[in-house]
Amino acid sequence: MTERFKKVRVEFENVSLAYGKTRVLTDVSIAIEPGEFFALLGPSGSGKSTLLRLLAGFLQPQAGAIRVAGEDVTRVPPWERDIGMVFQNYALWPHMTVRQNVAFGLEERRLPRAEVERRAAAALELVGLGEFGARRPGQLSGGQQQRVAVARTIAIEPKVLLLDEPLSNLDAKLRIHMRVELLALQRKLGITTIFVTHDQEEALSIADRVAVLDQGVIQQVGTPVELYDTPANRFIAHFVGTINFLRGTLETSGTRTVFRSEALGEIAMAGVAASAGPAEIAIRPHAMQLAAPGKPLDGGRTWLDGTVTEREFLGEFVRYNVKIGAADLVVDQPHYMGEPGFAPGARVRVGINPAQVKVLKAAAEREA
Ligand SMILES: Nc1ncnc2c1ncn2[C@@H]1O[C@H](COP(=O)(O)OP(=O)(O)OP(=O)(O)O)[C@@H](O)[C@H]1O
Ligand SMILES: [Mg+2]
Repeated sequence: MTERFKKVRVEFENVSLAYGKTRVLTDVSIAIEPGEFFALLGPSGSGKSTLLRLLAGFLQPQAGAIRVAGEDVTRVPPWERDIGMVFQNYALWPHMTVRQNVAFGLEERRLPRAEVERRAAAALELVGLGEFGARRPGQLSGGQQQRVAVARTIAIEPKVLLLDEPLSNLDAKLRIHMRVELLALQRKLGITTIFVTHDQEEALSIADRVAVLDQGVIQQVGTPVELYDTPANRFIAHFVGTINFLRGTLETSGTRTVFRSEALGEIAMAGVAASAGPAEIAIRPHAMQLAAPGKPLDGGRTWLDGTVTEREFLGEFVRYNVKIGAADLVVDQPHYMGEPGFAPGARVRVGINPAQVKVLKAAAEREA
């Protein structure tokens, strides 16, 4: 069935939707490339499911256009759109067998009996459930039910595959396993796929590109690395990973730039394009190094004196809260066997690598 899937482009152009006075989506524009695995990421209530429903045709926007393979489908009814959607709760029929569940959409399309059988079997085979056709959903694990829901959707050979938080019912280990499987299946089929999640790690790990939504407004669209390394604003920097923010002033003299804040004093900066003036900087927890006082220090870093206030052991690394002057920073250090690390109350030196400090442009411009 692989060759039946055509790779199509999906476009949202200035799409807005409101319920009465409540704005749910405002001026959303996204272009999803043919064959792309695209994630919609955002907190609860940010409008992710609403965007999928608009694309599937269950809702219509008050403004803007939606195009699939270049065709404007904004006013096309759902059954003529050829969009497959996997719902969060899977919505399997409990009284039907797995095979009947998968065949249901095909029978509704009044396909010949043999074709229904062939496609249902192929779809189940594809998700690794070829042997499970005679069971009922209640006799399957959560991960297997999730695969039936996917099989049922790809059996109709839709133009676009929509997945609304498909993994949120599964336990942590299975979730990671299933996201690898989903991506492998998507790559095999080549079908343009939109995956909704509120879990930033899930979005970053699985998607070619991610759109981040907040309160119905697109904050940034980019590759996972772009979102992580060059967040467009404070919301993205905070939502995608853990980060420390510091407000202060950028000062330049000749080729040297420093960031000065009341809380921390002076931090040397490297390769900063932003001009002098009020600014906000962001530093990832793992981009800092902790050292015991009196130890020799790497001269390429700015070293600040602080005190450990909290320590959280997370296996691969230890997460410290460090108080430096008036500032509280989250600092992650790799954990190695036999190394005791630092206890709460310990005096430490915090080394900041200037190359790992991000000046947030939006904040700098807003305040300048
Ligand atoms: N029928 C409705 N009437 C009024 N408001 C609605 C309606 N349906 C959804 N909303 C509102 O629209 C907003 C976006 O809802 P949506 O379901 O798209 O969010 P979401 O990003 O999918 O959230 P979650 O992660 O919790 O699933 C929410 O604030 C919700 O309360
Ligand atoms: Mg939702």
